[in-house]
Amino acid sequence: MRIVLASSNKHKVQEINDIVASLGLPFEFILPPADFDPEETGTTFEENSYIKAYEAWKLAKTWTLADDSGLCIDALNGKPGIYSARYAETPALRIERVLKELEGVENRDAHFTCAMTLINPEGNIEYKYQGICEGCIIKETRGTNGFGYDPIFLVKGDTRTMAELSEDEKNRVSHRSVALRHILEYLKNLV
Ligand code: IMP
Repeated sequence: MRIVLASSNKHKVQEINDIVASLGLPFEFILPPADFDPEETGTTFEENSYIKAYEAWKLAKTWTLADDSGLCIDALNGKPGIYSARYAETPALRIERVLKELEGVENRDAHFTCAMTLINPEGNIEYKYQGICEGCIIKETRGTNGFGYDPIFLVKGDTRTMAELSEDEKNRVSHRSVALRHILEYLKNLV
């Protein structure tokens, strides 16, 4: 069964297909048509993931799945949240901004969230799920794997940051893989 992943990020499609393959499931995620260019105007991760999934459905008229994710920091009232990708100009500057905003702050609890929306060939929401990965923000960067805020995010129950985990290890605990596994479980029972 082929499902359009509402993202133009080839790396994301590959990451998701790797997780699917590791679970031995009969699904293949593919890129949306080239003119896929949604405007993320939602005020929540859930709304943005619906906007993306529906935009892809309008073009492909088949099963579509979208995700929207980001980092939420308790002491910053959930920021950067849906603004995670735009919190500053570059990934390094975004990390710098977060560390500055947390200077002198004791509660450094945070979580990554990933909202996924699955739309069926009729254009209706078939299933949705929000995956969460808990942790806290350390005071310096550690590790070189992953992307985004991974080097400052210490995974709960581990001594390492997300950027110190291997790709496989991250795929076992990440917000994206938690959400994806729920979506796949749903799809498995459907086909
Ligand atoms: P997207 O919705 O998956 O494109 O994620 C939006 C932004 O959230 C990214 O540009 C990153 O800044 C941040 N983000 C999402 N997932 C992760 C992750 O697994 N590690 C680090 N940063 C992430």
